Amino acid sequence: MAKLAIKGGQPIRTRLFPAYNTIGAEEKTAVMEVLESGNLSQFLGAWHKDFYGGPTVQKFESRWKEKFGTKYAVSVNSNTSGLFTAIGACGIQPGDEVIVSPYTMSASALAPVIYGAVPVFADVDYDNFGLNPESVERCITPRTRAILVVHIFGNPARMDEIMAIAQKHNLYVIEDCAQAPLAYYKNRLVGTIGHMGIFSLNYHKHIHTGEGGMIITNDDNLAERCLLIRNHGENIVEPKGVQNPFNTHGFNYRMTEMEAAVGCAQLDKLDGLLKARLENAAYFAEALGKITGLKPPVVEEGNQHVYYLQAFKYNSEVFGVHRNTFINAIKAEIPSAILREDTPLIGAGYVKPIYLQPLYQKRATHCSFNCSKYEGAVSYEKGICPVTEQLHFEELFTHEYMRPGMTKQDMDDVIAAFNKVAENVHELK
Ligand SMILES: Cc1ncc(COP(=O)(O)O)c(C=O)c1O
Repeated sequence: MAKLAIKGGQPIRTRLFPAYNTIGAEEKTAVMEVLESGNLSQFLGAWHKDFYGGPTVQKFESRWKEKFGTKYAVSVNSNTSGLFTAIGACGIQPGDEVIVSPYTMSASALAPVIYGAVPVFADVDYDNFGLNPESVERCITPRTRAILVVHIFGNPARMDEIMAIAQKHNLYVIEDCAQAPLAYYKNRLVGTIGHMGIFSLNYHKHIHTGEGGMIITNDDNLAERCLLIRNHGENIVEPKGVQNPFNTHGFNYRMTEMEAAVGCAQLDKLDGLLKARLENAAYFAEALGKITGLKPPVVEEGNQHVYYLQAFKYNSEVFGVHRNTFINAIKAEIPSAILREDTPLIGAGYVKPIYLQPLYQKRATHCSFNCSKYEGAVSYEKGICPVTEQLHFEELFTHEYMRPGMTKQDMDDVIAAFNKVAENVHELK
């Protein structure tokens, strides 16, 4: 008789796991204060003191820059708009190339396209899944202007080597820290190592404001350009006397006072939430790492991985079945969580390597790689990033069961599911 739930046996658990809900009394009080003030946003798209936004937005930015130890923090309404802002601030234009990761959320690679530039995909590192410096070096051309690094899943990319390449070729480095608040690379906070770091505050993240983002930098010029792009820069350059208005035409990427109020309360909780997440991730690494054929993430000495997701490698030769089959069997043993009923907390692979999306395969944009100013010959063929493809289609799986709020019993149920599937894997063959 089958034991595995996917074959008709009893599942380990059907009761949903706890919700990951970081919003509480503090956020409610903070939002009520803003609502009662009647001042839900105080931005003005003109050269005026309100060009910088209202009191809560400015308080949130001050709090963020204190926490991260940077000279500037510029709030935006998403990490996506922050990435677009950063690319614009670097003066990127049609004909330029930006080296990006193929194994990330699509917005990281899209940012150059928005400015008419060409994303060039370097392969990722087999151990930490961030940009691989040797592959980055091979992608450099006379057109390269910037490297957009992603600290994917919360694990820092190899920044020393990437910064050395950037210095050698005079390139900007933008760190996409959407998944990595308070991650450390060799005892330095990620986001503070390159020219700019950008965080996400969307509702999936460690802390959130519903939607939102934050750009940090120590560079006066880049900070000024980010402020202009965030808020209708074309109206401001003349009265402010901006010397170089190139690429500073602006958008409305502004955060509201309510989001900033939630952000302040959330920032107070970040350390505590992170502590619980790290403890839970360590518990899973220890328990699942004992199963032959599963390998927990590698975290280098001096680094702190902050586990937006916990990505394991799966060895199909050990189990004799494809990773997808194994992960489907786990999904049948355990449910998802409250507030996430229909979205599994575990997945085979991450997102499809970005260059395989129709935008790149069909070259579906008027500018960028189709621009007459572009003199390169970028390739988006399948096979250009073999490590990414191997990880995505064969070896890697991610889970979110280490989110704060999980009890020891909850985690033990997840571990029991893994042990059960590993011990009865013959049923899947
Ligand atoms: C690595 C990465 N970059 C960019 C983004 C985009 O963030 P946002 O939703 O705040 O625009 C995300 C969101 O999931 C992300 O994970």
